[in-house]
Amino acid sequence: MRPCASDMHGAVQTLHFACPLPRPLPFCPSAPSCAIWDKETGMYRDRIGLTSLWGKVVGAEEAAMHIKDGMVVGMSGFTRAGDAKVVPMALAERATEEKLKITLMTGASLGSDIDKTLAQAGCLSRRIPFQADPTLRKSINAGEVMFVDQHLSETVEMLRSRQMAPIDVAVIEAVAITPEGGIIPTTSIGNSASFAILAEKIIVEINLHQSLDLIGLHDVYIPTRRPHREPIPLVTPSDRIGLPYIPVDPSKIAAIVITEKNDSSANIAPADAETKAIADHLIDFFRQEVRKGRIGTSLLPLQAGIGSIANAVLGGFIDSPFHDLSMYSEVLQDCTFDLFDSGKLKFASGSSITLSGPRGKEVFGNIGKYKDRLVLRPQEVSNHPEVIRRLGLICINTALEADIYGNVNSTHVNASMMMNGIGGSGDFARNAYLSVFVTKSMAKDGRISSIVPMVTHVDHCEHDVDIIVTERGLADLRGLAPRERANLMIEHCMHPDYRDLARDYLKDALGRGGHTPHVMERAFEWHLAFQRTGSMLPLAKAAE
Ligand code: COA
Repeated sequence: MRPCASDMHGAVQTLHFACPLPRPLPFCPSAPSCAIWDKETGMYRDRIGLTSLWGKVVGAEEAAMHIKDGMVVGMSGFTRAGDAKVVPMALAERATEEKLKITLMTGASLGSDIDKTLAQAGCLSRRIPFQADPTLRKSINAGEVMFVDQHLSETVEMLRSRQMAPIDVAVIEAVAITPEGGIIPTTSIGNSASFAILAEKIIVEINLHQSLDLIGLHDVYIPTRRPHREPIPLVTPSDRIGLPYIPVDPSKIAAIVITEKNDSSANIAPADAETKAIADHLIDFFRQEVRKGRIGTSLLPLQAGIGSIANAVLGGFIDSPFHDLSMYSEVLQDCTFDLFDSGKLKFASGSSITLSGPRGKEVFGNIGKYKDRLVLRPQEVSNHPEVIRRLGLICINTALEADIYGNVNSTHVNASMMMNGIGGSGDFARNAYLSVFVTKSMAKDGRISSIVPMVTHVDHCEHDVDIIVTERGLADLRGLAPRERANLMIEHCMHPDYRDLARDYLKDALGRGGHTPHVMERAFEWHLAFQRTGSMLPLAKAAE
Protein backbone atom coordinates (compact mmCIF):
# COMPACT_ATOMS: atom_id res chain seq x y z
CA MET A 1 0.00 0.00 0.00
CA ARG A 2 1.53 3.28 -1.08
CA PRO A 3 0.01 6.54 0.17
CA CYS A 4 -0.14 9.24 -2.48
CA ALA A 5 -0.96 12.84 -1.74
CA SER A 6 -2.22 15.68 -3.80
CA ASP A 7 -2.83 19.38 -3.24
CA MET A 8 -6.45 20.28 -3.86
CA HIS A 9 -8.05 23.64 -4.63
CA GLY A 10 -6.97 26.07 -1.93
CA ALA A 11 -6.62 23.45 0.75
CA VAL A 12 -4.23 20.57 0.97
CA GLN A 13 -5.94 17.25 1.00
CA THR A 14 -4.32 13.85 1.22
CA LEU A 15 -5.60 10.96 -0.85
CA HIS A 16 -4.78 7.52 0.42
CA PHE A 17 -4.49 5.36 -2.66
CA ALA A 18 -4.21 1.64 -2.35
CA CYS A 19 -1.65 1.12 -5.12
CA PRO A 20 -2.05 -1.10 -6.98
CA LEU A 21 -5.69 -2.05 -6.55
CA PRO A 22 -6.82 -5.63 -6.85
CA ARG A 23 -8.14 -6.28 -10.35
CA PRO A 24 -10.47 -6.94 -12.09
CA LEU A 25 -12.74 -4.23 -10.82
CA PRO A 26 -15.45 -5.71 -8.63
CA PHE A 27 -18.48 -4.36 -10.48
CA CYS A 28 -17.46 -5.70 -13.81
CA PRO A 29 -15.94 -9.11 -13.30
CA SER A 30 -16.41 -10.36 -16.81
CA ALA A 31 -15.73 -7.00 -18.47
CA PRO A 32 -18.58 -7.32 -20.98
CA SER A 33 -18.04 -5.34 -24.13
CA CYS A 34 -21.48 -3.73 -24.31
CA ALA A 35 -23.53 -1.79 -21.80
CA ILE A 36 -26.37 -3.51 -19.95
CA TRP A 37 -29.49 -1.39 -20.19
CA ASP A 38 -31.55 -1.80 -17.05
CA LYS A 39 -35.20 -1.29 -18.10
CA GLU A 40 -36.44 -0.79 -14.52
CA THR A 41 -34.00 1.95 -13.63
CA GLY A 42 -33.35 3.21 -17.13
CA MET A 43 -29.63 3.03 -16.43
CA TYR A 44 -26.52 1.46 -17.89
CA ARG A 45 -25.74 -0.77 -14.91
CA ASP A 46 -22.28 -1.82 -16.00
CA ARG A 47 -21.23 1.75 -16.78
CA ILE A 48 -22.22 3.57 -13.59
CA GLY A 49 -21.22 1.34 -10.68
CA LEU A 50 -22.18 3.83 -7.96
CA THR A 51 -25.97 3.67 -7.88
CA SER A 52 -26.32 6.99 -6.04
CA LEU A 53 -25.04 8.65 -9.24
CA TRP A 54 -27.82 7.28 -11.44
CA GLY A 55 -29.93 10.36 -10.78
CA LYS A 56 -27.15 12.56 -12.18
CA VAL A 57 -27.65 11.43 -15.78
CA VAL A 58 -28.80 14.42 -17.87
CA GLY A 59 -28.55 15.73 -21.43
CA ALA A 60 -25.47 17.60 -22.67
CA GLU A 61 -27.20 21.02 -22.62
CA GLU A 62 -28.25 20.63 -18.98
CA ALA A 63 -24.78 19.41 -17.97
CA ALA A 64 -23.14 22.32 -19.78
CA MET A 65 -25.18 24.75 -17.63
CA HIS A 66 -22.70 24.05 -14.80
CA ILE A 67 -20.17 25.99 -16.88
CA LYS A 68 -20.52 29.76 -16.59
CA ASP A 69 -18.92 32.73 -18.29
CA GLY A 70 -15.33 33.33 -17.12
CA MET A 71 -14.80 29.84 -15.72
CA VAL A 72 -11.71 27.68 -16.04
CA VAL A 73 -12.66 24.36 -17.57
CA GLY A 74 -10.41 21.28 -17.72
CA MET A 75 -11.45 18.81 -20.39
CA SER A 76 -10.18 15.35 -21.16
CA GLY A 77 -8.54 14.79 -24.54
CA PHE A 78 -5.03 14.20 -25.76
CA THR A 79 -4.10 14.22 -29.48
CA ARG A 80 -7.71 13.54 -30.61
CA ALA A 81 -8.14 10.65 -28.16
CA GLY A 82 -10.55 10.45 -25.25
CA ASP A 83 -11.93 13.97 -25.57
CA ALA A 84 -15.21 15.02 -24.02
CA LYS A 85 -17.41 15.31 -27.10
CA VAL A 86 -20.93 16.56 -26.46
CA VAL A 87 -20.69 18.99 -23.53
CA PRO A 88 -18.18 21.24 -25.40
CA MET A 89 -20.54 21.29 -28.40
CA ALA A 90 -23.43 22.31 -26.12
CA LEU A 91 -21.22 25.09 -24.74
CA ALA A 92 -20.40 26.32 -28.24
CA GLU A 93 -24.13 26.38 -29.03
CA ARG A 94 -24.84 28.46 -25.90
CA ALA A 95 -21.98 30.82 -26.73
CA THR A 96 -23.76 31.84 -29.93
CA GLU A 97 -26.66 33.17 -27.82
CA GLU A 98 -25.10 34.47 -24.61
CA LYS A 99 -21.77 35.83 -23.40
CA LEU A 100 -19.79 32.75 -22.57
CA LYS A 101 -16.01 32.80 -22.69
CA ILE A 102 -13.93 30.24 -20.87
CA THR A 103 -10.33 29.29 -20.25
CA LEU A 104 -10.01 25.81 -21.70
CA MET A 105 -7.33 23.42 -20.53
CA THR A 106 -6.91 19.94 -21.96
CA GLY A 107 -4.22 17.29 -22.12
CA ALA A 108 -3.22 18.23 -25.66
CA SER A 109 -5.00 18.69 -29.00
CA LEU A 110 -8.66 17.74 -29.41
CA GLY A 111 -10.54 15.94 -32.16
CA SER A 112 -14.21 16.00 -33.16
CA ASP A 113 -13.81 19.62 -34.36
CA ILE A 114 -14.16 20.76 -30.75
CA ASP A 115 -11.41 23.40 -30.87
CA LYS A 116 -12.73 24.57 -34.24
CA THR A 117 -16.34 24.84 -33.05
CA LEU A 118 -15.45 26.54 -29.75
CA ALA A 119 -13.18 29.01 -31.59
CA GLN A 120 -15.84 29.78 -34.20
CA ALA A 121 -18.41 30.37 -31.45
CA GLY A 122 -16.03 32.83 -29.75
CA CYS A 123 -16.18 30.69 -26.62
CA LEU A 124 -12.45 30.62 -25.86
CA SER A 125 -10.65 33.43 -24.10
CA ARG A 126 -7.61 31.34 -23.19
CA ARG A 127 -6.40 27.93 -24.36
CA ILE A 128 -3.79 25.80 -22.54
CA PRO A 129 -1.45 23.84 -23.20
CA PHE A 130 -1.54 22.57 -26.85
CA GLN A 131 -3.75 22.64 -29.93
CA ALA A 132 -3.49 21.55 -33.55
CA ASP A 133 -6.62 22.95 -35.16
CA PRO A 134 -6.37 25.30 -38.19
CA THR A 135 -9.38 27.46 -37.16
CA LEU A 136 -8.19 27.89 -33.58
CA ARG A 137 -4.67 28.52 -34.93
CA LYS A 138 -6.08 31.46 -36.92
CA SER A 139 -7.80 32.89 -33.82
CA ILE A 140 -4.58 32.52 -31.83
CA ASN A 141 -2.50 34.22 -34.51
CA ALA A 142 -5.09 37.01 -34.79
CA GLY A 143 -4.69 37.63 -31.05
CA GLU A 144 -8.34 36.67 -30.32
CA VAL A 145 -7.51 33.65 -28.14
CA MET A 146 -4.67 33.84 -25.62
CA PHE A 147 -2.76 30.60 -26.12
CA VAL A 148 -0.42 29.41 -23.37
CA ASP A 149 2.00 27.08 -25.14
CA GLN A 150 3.25 24.89 -22.31
CA HIS A 151 5.43 21.84 -21.70
CA LEU A 152 2.81 19.10 -21.33
CA SER A 153 4.25 17.77 -18.07
CA GLU A 154 3.84 21.14 -16.36
CA THR A 155 0.18 22.11 -16.55
CA VAL A 156 -1.11 20.15 -13.57
CA GLU A 157 2.00 20.86 -11.50
CA MET A 158 1.19 24.56 -11.92
CA LEU A 159 -2.47 24.00 -11.07
CA ARG A 160 -1.64 21.92 -8.02
CA SER A 161 0.69 24.56 -6.67
CA ARG A 162 -1.86 27.27 -7.49
CA GLN A 163 0.40 29.09 -9.95
CA MET A 164 -2.54 29.22 -12.38
CA ALA A 165 -6.22 29.94 -11.80
CA PRO A 166 -7.96 26.84 -10.39
CA ILE A 167 -10.23 24.55 -12.39
CA ASP A 168 -13.92 25.24 -11.84
CA VAL A 169 -15.35 22.35 -13.84
CA ALA A 170 -13.71 19.22 -15.23
CA VAL A 171 -15.39 17.46 -18.16
CA ILE A 172 -14.03 13.95 -18.49
CA GLU A 173 -14.88 11.22 -21.00
CA ALA A 174 -15.10 7.86 -19.29
CA VAL A 175 -15.69 4.22 -20.05
CA ALA A 176 -17.42 3.74 -16.71
CA ILE A 177 -17.66 4.86 -13.10
CA THR A 178 -16.68 2.34 -10.39
CA PRO A 179 -18.89 1.49 -7.38
CA GLU A 180 -16.71 3.90 -5.33
CA GLY A 181 -17.24 6.71 -7.84
CA GLY A 182 -13.81 6.34 -9.51
CA ILE A 183 -13.69 7.51 -13.12
CA ILE A 184 -12.25 5.11 -15.71
CA PRO A 185 -10.99 7.16 -18.67
CA THR A 186 -11.23 6.03 -22.30
CA THR A 187 -8.46 6.23 -24.91
CA SER A 188 -6.34 8.86 -23.16
CA ILE A 189 -5.57 10.05 -19.66
CA GLY A 190 -3.68 13.25 -20.41
CA ASN A 191 -4.43 15.71 -17.60
CA SER A 192 -7.84 14.21 -16.80
CA ALA A 193 -6.91 12.74 -13.41
CA SER A 194 -5.62 15.93 -11.86
CA PHE A 195 -8.32 18.05 -13.55
CA ALA A 196 -10.98 15.85 -11.91
CA ILE A 197 -9.20 15.72 -8.54
CA LEU A 198 -8.64 19.50 -8.45
CA ALA A 199 -11.97 20.70 -9.92
CA GLU A 200 -14.88 22.05 -7.89
CA LYS A 201 -17.32 20.07 -10.04
CA ILE A 202 -17.02 17.19 -12.47
CA ILE A 203 -19.12 16.38 -15.53
CA VAL A 204 -18.59 12.82 -16.80
CA GLU A 205 -19.33 11.85 -20.39
CA ILE A 206 -19.80 8.07 -20.40
CA ASN A 207 -19.03 6.95 -23.95
CA LEU A 208 -20.85 3.71 -24.79
CA HIS A 209 -18.89 3.48 -28.02
CA GLN A 210 -15.76 2.72 -26.00
CA SER A 211 -15.42 -0.89 -24.98
CA LEU A 212 -15.36 -1.93 -21.34
CA ASP A 213 -12.30 -3.94 -22.37
CA LEU A 214 -10.39 -0.68 -21.88
CA ILE A 215 -10.80 -1.20 -18.12
CA GLY A 216 -7.46 -2.04 -16.59
CA LEU A 217 -5.43 -0.20 -19.25
CA HIS A 218 -4.89 2.93 -17.16
CA ASP A 219 -2.40 3.55 -14.38
CA VAL A 220 -3.27 6.71 -12.48
CA TYR A 221 -0.45 7.91 -10.26
CA ILE A 222 -0.40 11.41 -8.78
CA PRO A 223 3.05 12.61 -7.67
CA THR A 224 3.23 13.52 -3.99
CA ARG A 225 3.45 17.08 -2.71
CA ARG A 226 6.56 19.22 -3.01
CA PRO A 227 9.02 20.05 -1.48
CA HIS A 228 9.25 16.58 0.09
CA ARG A 229 8.10 14.59 -2.92
CA GLU A 230 8.94 10.91 -3.04
CA PRO A 231 10.62 9.61 -6.19
CA ILE A 232 8.12 8.35 -8.75
CA PRO A 233 8.50 4.56 -8.31
CA LEU A 234 8.76 3.76 -12.00
CA VAL A 235 11.93 2.01 -13.15
CA THR A 236 10.82 0.21 -16.33
CA PRO A 237 8.23 1.27 -18.93
CA SER A 238 5.96 -1.62 -17.90
CA ASP A 239 5.77 -0.77 -14.18
CA ARG A 240 2.29 -0.17 -12.83
CA ILE A 241 2.40 2.23 -9.90
CA GLY A 242 -1.12 3.62 -9.52
CA LEU A 243 -4.83 2.95 -9.83
CA PRO A 244 -6.81 1.78 -12.87
CA TYR A 245 -9.23 4.69 -12.35
CA ILE A 246 -9.27 8.35 -11.27
CA PRO A 247 -10.12 8.53 -7.57
CA VAL A 248 -12.53 11.41 -6.90
CA ASP A 249 -14.98 12.42 -4.26
CA PRO A 250 -18.22 11.25 -5.97
CA SER A 251 -20.18 14.13 -4.44
CA LYS A 252 -18.28 16.40 -6.87
CA ILE A 253 -19.81 14.59 -9.87
CA ALA A 254 -22.47 17.13 -10.81
CA ALA A 255 -23.71 15.54 -14.03
CA ILE A 256 -23.29 12.47 -16.19
CA VAL A 257 -23.97 12.51 -19.92
CA ILE A 258 -24.27 9.34 -22.00
CA THR A 259 -22.64 9.54 -25.45
CA GLU A 260 -21.83 7.14 -28.23
CA LYS A 261 -19.29 8.91 -30.44
CA ASN A 262 -16.00 7.61 -31.73
CA ASP A 263 -12.71 9.50 -31.38
CA SER A 264 -11.58 11.36 -34.49
CA SER A 265 -9.01 9.36 -36.36
CA ALA A 266 -5.45 10.54 -36.82
CA ASN A 267 -4.49 12.21 -40.11
CA ILE A 268 -1.34 10.28 -40.79
CA ALA A 269 0.15 10.55 -44.25
CA PRO A 270 1.70 7.27 -45.42
CA ALA A 271 5.49 6.99 -45.47
CA ASP A 272 7.06 8.52 -48.61
CA ALA A 273 10.56 8.32 -50.06
CA GLU A 274 11.80 11.13 -47.82
CA THR A 275 10.40 9.81 -44.52
CA LYS A 276 11.73 6.37 -45.48
CA ALA A 277 15.18 7.88 -46.07
CA ILE A 278 15.01 9.60 -42.66
CA ALA A 279 14.15 6.25 -41.05
CA ASP A 280 17.02 4.53 -42.89
CA HIS A 281 19.57 7.11 -41.72
CA LEU A 282 18.40 6.72 -38.12
CA ILE A 283 18.48 2.95 -38.26
CA ASP A 284 22.03 3.03 -39.64
CA PHE A 285 22.98 5.37 -36.83
CA PHE A 286 21.50 3.05 -34.18
CA ARG A 287 23.34 0.11 -35.77
CA GLN A 288 26.60 1.98 -35.30
CA GLU A 289 25.74 2.84 -31.71
CA VAL A 290 25.15 -0.87 -31.04
CA ARG A 291 28.43 -1.77 -32.80
CA LYS A 292 30.27 0.74 -30.58
CA GLY A 293 28.78 -1.00 -27.54
CA ARG A 294 26.89 2.09 -26.35
CA ILE A 295 23.47 0.45 -26.44
CA GLY A 296 22.17 -3.10 -26.89
CA THR A 297 20.07 -4.51 -29.73
CA SER A 298 16.90 -3.67 -27.79
CA LEU A 299 18.09 -0.05 -27.88
CA LEU A 300 16.57 2.00 -25.05
CA PRO A 301 12.88 2.84 -24.50
CA LEU A 302 11.67 4.90 -27.45
CA GLN A 303 9.58 8.06 -27.50
CA ALA A 304 8.23 9.33 -30.80
CA GLY A 305 6.33 12.56 -31.32
CA ILE A 306 3.02 12.92 -33.08
CA GLY A 307 2.89 13.31 -36.86
CA SER A 308 3.51 11.55 -40.11
CA ILE A 309 7.29 11.79 -40.05
CA ALA A 310 7.73 10.34 -36.56
CA ASN A 311 5.19 7.59 -37.36
CA ALA A 312 7.07 6.63 -40.53
CA VAL A 313 10.41 6.67 -38.74
CA LEU A 314 9.19 4.25 -36.06
CA GLY A 315 7.63 2.11 -38.78
CA GLY A 316 11.18 1.75 -40.13
CA PHE A 317 12.08 -0.35 -37.09
CA ILE A 318 9.94 -3.20 -38.43
CA ASP A 319 12.63 -4.17 -40.95
CA SER A 320 15.51 -3.34 -38.64
CA PRO A 321 17.84 -5.76 -36.82
CA PHE A 322 16.58 -4.51 -33.45
CA HIS A 323 14.19 -6.52 -31.29
CA ASP A 324 12.51 -6.62 -27.88
CA LEU A 325 11.93 -2.88 -28.18
CA SER A 326 9.96 -0.87 -25.65
CA MET A 327 8.25 2.51 -25.83
CA TYR A 328 7.88 5.13 -23.12
CA SER A 329 6.05 7.79 -25.06
CA GLU A 330 3.04 10.09 -24.83
CA VAL A 331 1.08 9.32 -28.00
CA LEU A 332 0.84 5.74 -29.23
CA GLN A 333 0.18 5.92 -32.97
CA ASP A 334 -0.37 3.27 -35.68
CA CYS A 335 3.34 2.43 -35.70
CA THR A 336 3.16 1.18 -32.09
CA PHE A 337 0.66 -1.50 -33.09
CA ASP A 338 2.52 -2.28 -36.33
CA LEU A 339 5.60 -2.90 -34.20
CA PHE A 340 3.59 -5.12 -31.80
CA ASP A 341 2.22 -7.11 -34.73
CA SER A 342 5.69 -7.53 -36.25
CA GLY A 343 6.92 -8.98 -32.96
CA LYS A 344 9.52 -6.20 -32.55
CA LEU A 345 7.90 -4.37 -29.65
CA LYS A 346 7.51 -5.86 -26.18
CA PHE A 347 5.78 -3.10 -24.24
CA ALA A 348 4.41 0.41 -24.79
CA SER A 349 3.60 3.06 -22.22
CA GLY A 350 1.79 6.24 -23.30
CA SER A 351 -0.81 8.80 -22.35
CA SER A 352 -3.11 8.30 -25.33
CA ILE A 353 -3.83 5.98 -28.24
CA THR A 354 -4.40 7.95 -31.46
CA LEU A 355 -4.92 5.82 -34.54
CA SER A 356 -5.90 6.21 -38.17
CA GLY A 357 -9.47 5.09 -39.04
CA PRO A 358 -8.89 1.49 -40.20
CA ARG A 359 -6.15 0.80 -37.66
CA GLY A 360 -8.37 2.17 -34.88
CA LYS A 361 -11.14 -0.28 -35.76
CA GLU A 362 -8.73 -3.23 -35.72
CA VAL A 363 -6.92 -2.27 -32.54
CA PHE A 364 -9.88 -1.20 -30.41
CA GLY A 365 -11.88 -4.16 -31.71
CA ASN A 366 -9.12 -6.42 -30.35
CA ILE A 367 -7.74 -4.38 -27.49
CA GLY A 368 -7.62 -7.54 -25.34
CA LYS A 369 -4.88 -8.80 -27.65
CA TYR A 370 -2.61 -5.90 -26.72
CA LYS A 371 -3.75 -5.00 -23.22
CA ASP A 372 -1.11 -6.84 -21.19
CA ARG A 373 1.59 -5.03 -23.22
CA LEU A 374 0.13 -1.54 -22.87
CA VAL A 375 -0.39 1.08 -20.18
CA LEU A 376 -1.83 4.62 -20.30
CA ARG A 377 -0.57 7.13 -17.73
CA PRO A 378 -1.26 10.76 -16.79
CA GLN A 379 0.86 13.01 -19.01
CA GLU A 380 2.76 14.40 -16.04
CA VAL A 381 4.07 10.83 -15.52
CA SER A 382 4.54 9.88 -19.21
CA ASN A 383 6.42 13.16 -19.70
CA HIS A 384 8.04 13.46 -16.29
CA PRO A 385 11.66 14.72 -16.46
CA GLU A 386 12.63 12.49 -13.52
CA VAL A 387 11.34 9.32 -15.22
CA ILE A 388 12.62 10.25 -18.72
CA ARG A 389 16.13 10.79 -17.34
CA ARG A 390 15.97 7.61 -15.23
CA LEU A 391 14.82 5.35 -18.08
CA GLY A 392 17.32 6.84 -20.55
CA LEU A 393 14.96 7.40 -23.45
CA ILE A 394 15.71 7.73 -27.14
CA CYS A 395 13.39 10.59 -28.09
CA ILE A 396 12.46 11.32 -31.69
CA ASN A 397 10.53 14.52 -32.36
CA THR A 398 9.80 16.63 -35.41
CA ALA A 399 11.26 20.07 -36.08
CA LEU A 400 9.71 22.76 -38.25
CA GLU A 401 13.20 24.14 -38.79
CA ALA A 402 16.67 23.77 -37.32
CA ASP A 403 19.65 26.05 -37.64
CA ILE A 404 23.24 25.34 -38.56
CA TYR A 405 24.20 25.31 -34.86
CA GLY A 406 21.51 22.81 -33.80
CA ASN A 407 18.81 25.07 -32.35
CA VAL A 408 15.33 23.77 -33.15
CA ASN A 409 12.07 25.58 -33.81
CA SER A 410 9.04 23.29 -33.45
CA THR A 411 6.32 25.87 -33.19
CA HIS A 412 6.55 29.16 -35.07
CA VAL A 413 6.51 29.97 -38.79
CA ASN A 414 8.55 33.09 -39.61
CA ALA A 415 9.02 34.01 -35.94
CA SER A 416 5.43 35.03 -35.25
CA MET A 417 2.85 32.52 -36.42
CA MET A 418 2.01 29.66 -34.07
CA MET A 419 1.65 26.24 -35.66
CA ASN A 420 0.60 23.80 -32.89
CA GLY A 421 2.72 24.24 -29.78
CA ILE A 422 5.73 22.66 -28.12
CA GLY A 423 3.68 19.74 -26.79
CA GLY A 424 5.81 17.16 -25.03
CA SER A 425 8.85 17.66 -27.22
CA GLY A 426 10.61 19.85 -24.64
CA ASP A 427 9.89 17.47 -21.75
CA PHE A 428 11.58 14.71 -23.72
CA ALA A 429 14.37 16.59 -25.52
CA ARG A 430 15.85 18.15 -22.37
CA ASN A 431 15.90 14.89 -20.42
CA ALA A 432 16.54 12.23 -23.08
CA TYR A 433 19.49 9.85 -23.29
CA LEU A 434 19.47 10.78 -26.99
CA SER A 435 17.48 13.72 -28.28
CA VAL A 436 16.79 13.30 -31.99
CA PHE A 437 14.97 15.80 -34.23
CA VAL A 438 13.76 14.82 -37.69
CA THR A 439 12.49 17.00 -40.51
CA LYS A 440 12.38 16.97 -44.28
CA SER A 441 15.18 19.22 -45.58
CA MET A 442 12.68 21.42 -47.45
CA ALA A 443 9.03 22.41 -47.13
CA LYS A 444 6.51 23.91 -49.55
CA ASP A 445 7.94 22.31 -52.69
CA GLY A 446 11.43 23.51 -51.97
CA ARG A 447 10.52 27.15 -51.37
CA ILE A 448 11.50 26.78 -47.71
CA SER A 449 14.70 25.25 -46.37
CA SER A 450 14.11 23.55 -43.03
CA ILE A 451 17.79 24.05 -42.21
CA VAL A 452 18.50 27.78 -41.92
CA PRO A 453 21.30 30.05 -40.70
CA MET A 454 19.33 31.05 -37.59
CA VAL A 455 15.92 29.77 -36.46
CA THR A 456 13.37 32.53 -35.98
CA HIS A 457 12.13 30.99 -32.72
CA VAL A 458 13.90 28.58 -30.36
CA ASP A 459 11.99 25.77 -28.68
CA HIS A 460 14.90 23.38 -28.21
CA CYS A 461 18.21 25.08 -27.77
CA GLU A 462 21.52 23.66 -29.02
CA HIS A 463 22.12 22.19 -25.54
CA ASP A 464 19.07 19.90 -25.80
CA VAL A 465 19.63 18.55 -29.29
CA ASP A 466 21.95 15.62 -30.02
CA ILE A 467 21.04 14.40 -33.50
CA ILE A 468 19.33 16.04 -36.49
CA VAL A 469 18.14 13.94 -39.42
CA THR A 470 16.71 14.87 -42.79
CA GLU A 471 16.29 12.70 -45.85
CA ARG A 472 19.71 14.02 -46.93
CA GLY A 473 21.57 12.59 -43.95
CA LEU A 474 22.24 12.69 -40.22
CA ALA A 475 24.24 15.16 -38.15
CA ASP A 476 25.56 13.80 -34.87
CA LEU A 477 26.11 16.99 -32.90
CA ARG A 478 27.18 15.36 -29.65
CA GLY A 479 30.39 16.74 -28.19
CA LEU A 480 30.91 19.24 -31.00
CA ALA A 481 31.55 22.98 -30.81
CA PRO A 482 29.23 25.27 -32.80
CA ARG A 483 31.73 25.77 -35.65
CA GLU A 484 31.99 21.97 -36.08
CA ARG A 485 28.23 21.53 -35.97
CA ALA A 486 27.64 24.12 -38.71
CA ASN A 487 29.68 22.17 -41.25
CA LEU A 488 27.89 18.91 -40.45
CA MET A 489 24.45 20.50 -40.65
CA ILE A 490 25.18 22.08 -44.05
CA GLU A 491 26.91 19.09 -45.62
CA HIS A 492 24.77 16.29 -44.12
CA CYS A 493 21.28 17.67 -43.51
CA MET A 494 20.70 20.60 -45.82
CA HIS A 495 19.21 20.18 -49.28
CA PRO A 496 21.86 20.69 -52.01
CA ASP A 497 19.82 23.60 -53.48
CA TYR A 498 20.60 25.64 -50.35
CA ARG A 499 24.14 24.50 -49.56
CA ASP A 500 26.03 27.21 -51.50
CA LEU A 501 23.94 29.92 -49.87
CA ALA A 502 24.68 28.43 -46.45
CA ARG A 503 28.40 28.00 -47.14
CA ASP A 504 28.54 31.66 -48.16
CA TYR A 505 26.73 32.68 -44.96
CA LEU A 506 29.04 30.59 -42.79
CA LYS A 507 32.17 31.95 -44.50
CA ASP A 508 31.00 35.50 -43.84
CA ALA A 509 30.11 34.61 -40.25
CA LEU A 510 33.45 32.92 -39.56
CA GLY A 511 35.14 36.07 -40.88
CA ARG A 512 33.43 38.02 -38.12
CA GLY A 513 34.63 35.55 -35.47
CA GLY A 514 32.96 34.40 -32.29
CA HIS A 515 32.09 31.13 -30.57
CA THR A 516 28.80 30.84 -32.48
CA PRO A 517 29.57 32.98 -35.52
CA HIS A 518 26.65 34.89 -37.03
CA VAL A 519 26.17 37.87 -39.31
CA MET A 520 23.31 39.52 -37.52
CA GLU A 521 22.14 41.64 -40.46
CA ARG A 522 22.04 38.47 -42.64
CA ALA A 523 20.82 35.87 -40.12
CA PHE A 524 17.19 36.03 -41.26
CA GLU A 525 17.74 36.95 -44.89
CA TRP A 526 16.33 33.59 -46.08
CA HIS A 527 13.10 34.11 -44.11
CA LEU A 528 12.86 37.69 -45.34
CA ALA A 529 13.32 36.51 -48.93
CA PHE A 530 10.46 34.05 -48.43
CA GLN A 531 8.21 36.83 -47.12
CA ARG A 532 9.15 39.06 -50.06
CA THR A 533 9.14 36.56 -52.93
CA GLY A 534 7.50 33.35 -51.68
CA SER A 535 10.82 31.48 -51.77
CA MET A 536 13.93 31.39 -49.60
CA LEU A 537 15.98 30.89 -52.76
CA PRO A 538 17.24 33.92 -54.72
CA LEU A 539 14.88 34.58 -57.65
CA ALA A 540 17.29 33.31 -60.34
CA LYS A 541 17.88 30.03 -58.50
CA ALA A 542 14.18 29.58 -57.69
CA ALA A 543 13.37 29.93 -61.41
CA GLU A 544 15.84 27.15 -62.42
N1 COA B 1 8.46 26.56 -42.37
C1 COA B 1 7.15 26.71 -42.62
N2 COA B 1 6.28 25.67 -42.71
C2 COA B 1 6.80 24.44 -42.57
C3 COA B 1 8.16 24.20 -42.34
C4 COA B 1 9.01 25.34 -42.24
N3 COA B 1 10.31 25.21 -42.00
N4 COA B 1 8.36 22.87 -42.24
C5 COA B 1 7.17 22.28 -42.41
N5 COA B 1 6.23 23.21 -42.62
C6 COA B 1 4.79 23.01 -42.83
C7 COA B 1 4.51 21.90 -43.83
O1 COA B 1 4.59 22.40 -45.15
C8 COA B 1 3.11 21.49 -43.43
O2 COA B 1 2.24 22.48 -43.91
P1 COA B 1 0.75 22.10 -44.41
O3 COA B 1 0.02 21.69 -43.16
O4 COA B 1 0.25 23.38 -45.00
O5 COA B 1 0.94 20.99 -45.40
C9 COA B 1 3.14 21.62 -41.90
O6 COA B 1 4.24 22.49 -41.60
C10 COA B 1 3.36 20.29 -41.18
O7 COA B 1 4.56 19.73 -41.60
P2 COA B 1 4.74 18.19 -41.95
O8 COA B 1 5.99 18.08 -42.75
O9 COA B 1 3.48 17.64 -42.54
O10 COA B 1 5.10 17.50 -40.54
P3 COA B 1 4.23 17.03 -39.30
O11 COA B 1 2.79 16.80 -39.60
O12 COA B 1 5.02 15.93 -38.72
O13 COA B 1 4.30 18.31 -38.31
C11 COA B 1 5.29 19.79 -36.70
C12 COA B 1 5.49 18.92 -37.96
C13 COA B 1 6.65 20.34 -36.28
C14 COA B 1 4.34 20.94 -37.01
C15 COA B 1 4.66 18.88 -35.59
O14 COA B 1 5.47 17.76 -35.40
C16 COA B 1 4.54 19.63 -34.28
O15 COA B 1 3.58 20.33 -34.05
N6 COA B 1 5.52 19.48 -33.37
C17 COA B 1 5.53 20.16 -32.10
C18 COA B 1 4.95 19.33 -31.02
C19 COA B 1 5.75 18.09 -30.78
O16 COA B 1 6.87 17.91 -31.23
N7 COA B 1 5.20 17.18 -30.05
C20 COA B 1 5.97 15.96 -29.78
C21 COA B 1 5.49 15.21 -28.74
S1 COA B 1 3.82 14.65 -29.25
